[in-house]
Amino acid sequence: MSTTPDPAASSPASPLGAARPAPKTGSRAGARTLAVTSGKGGVGKTFVTANLAAALALRGQRVLVLDADLGLANLDVVLNLHPKLTLHDVFTEKATLDQAILPAPGGFSVLLAGSGMVEYSRLTPEVRDKLLHIVEMVRPRFDWILFDTGAGISDVVLFSISMAADVLVVATPEPTSLTDAYATIKVLATQQDRREVGLLVNQANRVGEGKLICGQLQQVLQRFVGARPGQSFKLELLGEVKSDQTVRQAVLKRQLVLEHYPGSDAAQAIKALANKLLG
Ligand SMILES: Nc1ncnc2c1ncn2[C@@H]1O[C@H](COP(=O)(O)OP(=O)(O)OP(=O)(O)O)[C@@H](O)[C@H]1O
Ligand SMILES: [Mg+2]
Repeated sequence: MSTTPDPAASSPASPLGAARPAPKTGSRAGARTLAVTSGKGGVGKTFVTANLAAALALRGQRVLVLDADLGLANLDVVLNLHPKLTLHDVFTEKATLDQAILPAPGGFSVLLAGSGMVEYSRLTPEVRDKLLHIVEMVRPRFDWILFDTGAGISDVVLFSISMAADVLVVATPEPTSLTDAYATIKVLATQQDRREVGLLVNQANRVGEGKLICGQLQQVLQRFVGARPGQSFKLELLGEVKSDQTVRQAVLKRQLVLEHYPGSDAAQAIKALANKLLG
């Protein structure tokens, strides 16, 4: 359970606010930080992050998406951006932070990793400090920072998650995705002492599948994490996005579903996620 108060974390608007650990970036007022992660790769993290950013921007929020998948960054591809300046240039002091923060379609800002970040895919103290410093610098300027992380439980992924106060785990109904989601959440509970994690079930086959999956995962997690005296664990279903052909089309065309297919089920589901996060 968190003991360090964080002005953003204590916002009553947050459905995850109750037991959120203090962000490792310190407790300076500023953006709410949300890491979008998954156990298994390719489940829709980048799609969710980019479209959630657009949905929050539509609600008047200042949003920065940080491409935290340092080794295999692809936010630029999804957004059809061709960045000249990336995090790499900020790390090597070839560019200032202001130069590297770019406007994205959808009305939000991005800090892209680009392919030049492969060398940072191993977590060194230097990479850690640089990332923490960057997050510290941008926090006062935005309402939200979304971290589009890599999949799995590598050092880099766990570190990028640790920079965020809240976590949204994306999982599809496939058994392999659910097993990996469970493993990830278990690590977040044990290594980061998180007692509350958000879940988005993506590519659901029918309405209500997210609720069912969340309930099943919650049961096993509670047995594992809540087995210790005085401890409980809450997995909160923050969204359900059905498998939707428009998502595939939008990704192929490098477009945001929210902008180009605003009436689609997927766009509505992402807007509902934004509404839930905003309370
Ligand atoms: N709701 C959906 N309906 C249909 N297809 C989807 C949906 N969500 C994602 N996809 C498909 O899944 C693919 C992978 O999505 P995305 O790149 O966002 O995953 P990711 O988790 O970020 O992957 P990685 O782990 O490689 O970073 C997309 O190209 C898209 O075609
Ligand atoms: Mg991705």
